[in-house]
Amino acid sequence: MAKTITAPRGTRDLLPEETQAWDQVEAVARDLARRYAFERIEIPLFERVELFARGLGESSDAVEKEMFRVAGAKGSNEEAAPWALRPEPTAGIVRAFIEHGMHVRPGPLRLTLIGPMFRYDRPQAGRYRQFSQWDVEVIGDAGPAVDAELIELGHRFYAEVGLTDVVTRINSIGDAECRPLYREALIHYFAANEGRLSEDSRRRLRVNPLRVLDDKELAPDLAADAPRGIDHLCGSCREHFDAIRALLDALGVRYELDHRLVRGLDYYTRTAFEFYVAGREGQQQALGGGGRYDGLVEVLGGRPTPGIGLGIGLDRTILAMEEQGVALPARAPLIAVLGTGDDHARRLGIAATLREAGVVVRPDGSSRKLGKQLESASKAGARWAVIVGEAEAVALKDLASGEQRDAVSIEEVVAAVSE
Ligand code: HAM
Repeated sequence: MAKTITAPRGTRDLLPEETQAWDQVEAVARDLARRYAFERIEIPLFERVELFARGLGESSDAVEKEMFRVAGAKGSNEEAAPWALRPEPTAGIVRAFIEHGMHVRPGPLRLTLIGPMFRYDRPQAGRYRQFSQWDVEVIGDAGPAVDAELIELGHRFYAEVGLTDVVTRINSIGDAECRPLYREALIHYFAANEGRLSEDSRRRLRVNPLRVLDDKELAPDLAADAPRGIDHLCGSCREHFDAIRALLDALGVRYELDHRLVRGLDYYTRTAFEFYVAGREGQQQALGGGGRYDGLVEVLGGRPTPGIGLGIGLDRTILAMEEQGVALPARAPLIAVLGTGDDHARRLGIAATLREAGVVVRPDGSSRKLGKQLESASKAGARWAVIVGEAEAVALKDLASGEQRDAVSIEEVVAAVSE
């Protein structure tokens, strides 16, 4: 036998028994996107490397360590891998916003997508090389009301998929005016303790000192005493953050302040937020996160435009649902259409009529004995069997109780199985 081939490391096949949860979570996301008036956008799965380098920052993990590079065909001009699979969608959406001159549309724009993202990371539980996000972006709204609205949306999503104990954490990391002072304060503080920092943090200290704060290996006492973002905010950033907190209080959305929450991508300004299962707080376990990116449109060559968004990790949401034993909505009952001999035209015809009435139907395509067909229908999880005969009317068998009614009309079948 030929050697078998397995799926690439860090990717997963979702088998039919797993996709029911995915259908449910995506349905909740789509329905919320509709109710919150977001419009669908789609962008390529791969983009030019420099979009991510500029947008997410050279020192972000996504660019520095995890870029999944894509090369063109051998011998082509693109053999040197000028593209990368998207590690996240925000940079691509902002690229599309600029490329299509979407700033002239009546704003603010509210855009959403669901799809796969790729990060060449070390795979482990809840961390994959291909994973899915539900993303929402609002471009052209400086907030603070929209900041509170997106945090409330995240909060609502987890409640609607049935998760309990989801904690919302928020922070403000300032803007171009006050962030430099905060950076200086962090560099000063951590430089005095450089010997106690991990190798990663020592390397990052002068390039991106905020990231030292979310280093998992940072000693708890160093973390606890580190300068806090909210103590270094300029007047307008402080006002903005206070307003978000007041709005969340008014909406009844509970949150915790997290001074170490700085987000892993460099485009963020001011508001940063993340969602966790209680007790699982820590960068690698976030169920979702987002924040404001008021400088990103300009960095990517557009005119200055504020933006804010949220990315929800669907894989981790589903893992948490499994852990919490969240019940999924019951599937519509399956109806098998069976017959004798070569009456397939009748079976398919009746199946089509039942489907028109919205019933979920699986006709048996074989010419096996009726007993065998009934056995397969039960094994396939069918709730009812419709047995086709010579006459116009059919027999309806309840596969749970074994009870059979003969000479029933299609209308009666629809009524019985829809109860
Ligand atoms: P992010 O925090 O990098 O943000 O990713 C959002 C969510 O995607 C994470 O909270 C996590 O649930 C999930 N996720 C990230 N990496 C992986 C992985 N390797 N395996 C499984 N799940 C993962 C962003 O991507 C931003 N674009 C969010 C945003 C939108 N900010 C503004 N607009």
